[in-house]
Order: sequence, then structure tokens, then C-alpha cells
Amino acid sequence: MERWFDAARKRYSVRKYTESASRDEIRCLKEAAEALSTDSVRIVVGKKSGIFNPLIGKAISGTETFAAILCGANAEDYMAGMIGEAFVLECASMGLGTCWLGLSYNKRVADSCVKYKDEYEKIRCVISIGHYDKSAEFKRSRKTIYDLTGYVDTAYRKLPDWQQAAVNCARIAPSARNAQPWEFDVLNDSIQIAQVARNFGYGELDCGIAMMHIEIGAAHCGVYGDWTVEDGLALFKVDYNG
Ligand SMILES: Cc1cc2nc3c(=O)[nH]c(=O)nc-3n(C[C@H](O)[C@H](O)[C@H](O)COP(=O)(O)O)c2cc1C
Repeated sequence: MERWFDAARKRYSVRKYTESASRDEIRCLKEAAEALSTDSVRIVVGKKSGIFNPLIGKAISGTETFAAILCGANAEDYMAGMIGEAFVLECASMGLGTCWLGLSYNKRVADSCVKYKDEYEKIRCVISIGHYDKSAEFKRSRKTIYDLTGYVDTAYRKLPDWQQAAVNCARIAPSARNAQPWEFDVLNDSIQIAQVARNFGYGELDCGIAMMHIEIGAAHCGVYGDWTVEDGLALFKVDYNG
């Protein structure tokens, strides 16, 4: 979790790569993918030429390594977001660049790389993976803490450390089109995420990504909890006596 916390702070979407992942790295990525996969959300890692020649959207260049996030019949989108983001942060902690892709990949090529479990399983997103120039500049634009929580700076700083760390970490989570379709309600022993936009069908998956970041931020302060999800509201409740 602490490796993922460091990775979350350094990560940004890389679209221009210098090299694909090596054979050894792909072996490690496959192990990580298997460890993170569940019955309903699977991660398949591969390398294929043409995977990033998109029919729509901007092309990814310089790599042929990818991970496909597959959702089965009963998969919830927020689980795809949580599991996919854990994988993204594992890649980042291995020093690899990534970018979540809803559109910018070639679906026909991706389909040809996947052995589906049944007729219901589908690719939800693809993640590009590869080496990149770490000295390249990047810009991160995010909503303010006030916009996300309703707290002004002085009140926010009085919140318990774990809640500040969790919200700060969720604030830098990636989302489709950088829409950040979430608001955080900081309660006594919990944090609630409300999905505030559909974001072209990616809103729930985006919120799953932010949920993973909340968990990682809280864990950085030694605080752990459980999620309950209902009607677009996800509640992270901890056993907290601080
Ligand atoms: C579900 C999802 C789908 C995305 N799809 C694309 C895409 O098709 N093409 C692309 O270039 N970036 C895509 N992105 C990357 C976002 O544009 C990026 O995460 C966002 O702008 C925030 O920037 P950052 O990741 O550098 O912090 C996607 C991100 C998410 C979470």
C-alpha cells in the first residue's frame, strides 16, 4: 500500500513512450494482474503491434505493451476502477508509465488478444504500459479541496490526518477526460464519495479509481476500513477511535 501511495503521487498519464516493457517486466505484470483479478474483473497483460492505432482519439506511441481490463456479466464498474487503478499503481511503482484508455486503442486488435471466459465478458478499458522519459514535464490540473469537500482551508486542516491524506490522494486520481466526477463528504469516522456526473459512461469507473486512492491515503496513516456502495454513493467507514 505504501508503494502505491508513493506511486499515486508521482503518476501521471503517459502517452509517449520510449520502449515497451521488457520480457521480465511483462512476467511481473502478469503475476500482478493475476493477483489482482477476481471472478468478475480480470486483467490480461499482453504485447501486440497495432494495439494503439486507434480508430478514435489520440494515438499512444512508443510501446506495444498493454493491459486489458475485462468485466464479466456481474461486474460493477467501480470494481473495475479499483482493481485497474491498483494495477496502474503497481506499474508506476515498477517505474513504468501508464495511461487508462477508454477510446484510444484499437478494439479489434485488443479483442484478438483476449481469450474471453464467456459471451458476457467484455473489455471495459485498456491501459498502455511502457518506459518513458521521466524528465519530461507534466501538468496536473485538479478541482480544489473546497470544490470537492466544501471545506475551507483552515477547517480542512483540522480534520484527522487520515481523512486529509485520503482526500488529497483521491484528488489526484485519474478520470476519463479529467472530469473528476466526484464529491467527498467527510464524516465522523468515514468518507463518502458521491458520483456527480455520468462522464460519458465512465463516471462509476472513475469513482472506483478514487475509492482506491482513498483507501491508499488512509492506509498511509495506518487507518483501514470497508466500502459499502449504494445508488452512486460509496461509503468508506473505518473502525476509528482517534
Ligand atoms: C476511465 C478512463 C478512460 C480514459 N480514456 C482515455 C483515452 O481514451 N485517451 C486518452 O488519451 N486518455 C484517457 N484517459 C486519461 C485521462 O485523460 C487522464 O487520466 C486525465 O486527463 C488526468 O490526467 P493524469 O492521468 O495525467 O492525472 C482516461 C482515463 C480514465 C480514468
